[in-house]
Amino acid sequence: KVHDGHGGFVPTLFVDGVPLPPFPGLQINLQRIDKFQARSDDIWIVNWPKSGTHWMWEVVMMLSSGRAKLRDSVKVGAMFPEACTLQAAEKMTSPRVLDTHVPLKLFPKAALKSKIIYTVRNPKDACVSFYHHQKGMSMYRLDNVSWEGTLELMINGKAYYGNWFDHVEEWLKVLENNPNALIVTYEDMKMDLKKQVRRVAEFLGYKRSEKFYDDVAKLCSFGNMKKEKRDIKSAWSKESTGIYRKGTVGDWKNYFTMAQNEKFNEMYTRRMKDINLDLKFEL
Ligand code: A3P
Repeated sequence: KVHDGHGGFVPTLFVDGVPLPPFPGLQINLQRIDKFQARSDDIWIVNWPKSGTHWMWEVVMMLSSGRAKLRDSVKVGAMFPEACTLQAAEKMTSPRVLDTHVPLKLFPKAALKSKIIYTVRNPKDACVSFYHHQKGMSMYRLDNVSWEGTLELMINGKAYYGNWFDHVEEWLKVLENNPNALIVTYEDMKMDLKKQVRRVAEFLGYKRSEKFYDDVAKLCSFGNMKKEKRDIKSAWSKESTGIYRKGTVGDWKNYFTMAQNEKFNEMYTRRMKDINLDLKFEL
C-alpha cells in the first residue's frame, strides 16, 4: 500500500517502478506482452487516466462501425494489458479498438506501429476527476481517499500510472510527427466536438458524411452520454458519480487551494517547457 501523506492508503502494484492498480491479470499480461500480435487495422486509445477514454472510445466505435449509436456497455473489456487478457484480445473482431493508460515502457512494442490516438487533458482537471474516480471505485478498496492525498500522490508520481508529466513527455516523443498517431486534447473536444470527430475520422481513414459527424457529436455530448448510459452496470459503487461525473473544463478551481495551485503551476512550467502542447485550463 502507498501512503498518500494525508492518512490514506492506496493498494498499488509496482511494475518497473510504475505504480499500477492491482488488476488481477496484469502481471501475467505484462510477462507475456511480447506475445501480443498487432493487426494492421488496430486502433489504440492511450492516455493518462481520466482524460476522456470513454468519450473517445464511443467516438471511435461509431466511426469504425459506421453506426451513429451509443454502445450499450460502458466500454468493452479491451483495456490491455491492464484488464483484458491476451486471449481475449486475440478473440476480438477487427478492427479492434484497444485502450490503455500504461506508460510507454509497458506498452506492447508490436503495437507501436498501429494507429494510436493519444488523448490529453489538462492535469489539474484530470487530477480532480481521478480523485472522484478513486473515491467511487469500490474494487480498489482504498482507505480515506482525500483531495489533498490524491493531489500529493499525483505530484509525487505515486498515483496510478505514475507521473503525468513523464507519461505525456514519453508518449509525445514517439507520437509527435508520427503519421500513425493523433494527439487530441479533452479541451478541444469540449470546444468543438464535431471538428475533433472529423479529425479522428480522417486520421483513421474513414470518410463519413457531415450529417454523420453531426450525429456522432450530438450523441457524444456529455449530457446525452450521461443520460443514456446511466443504467449500465459498472465497477462503480452505487453512491459514486460514475464515469459521467461533471465533464467540464476548469472544475479544478473548486478543489485547488491557492498554495496547491502555485505549487502545481511552478511544476507545470518547469516540466512542460520543452513539450509542444498548449493545454487549456479554462474555456
Ligand atoms: P470528470 O470526472 O471531470 O467529469 P475517462 O473516460 O478517461 O475515465 O475520463 C472520465 C472523464 O471524462 C470524466 O471527467 C467524465 O465526466 C469525462 N467525460 C466522459 N464523457 C464525456 C463527454 N461526453 N463529454 C465531456 N466529458 C466527458
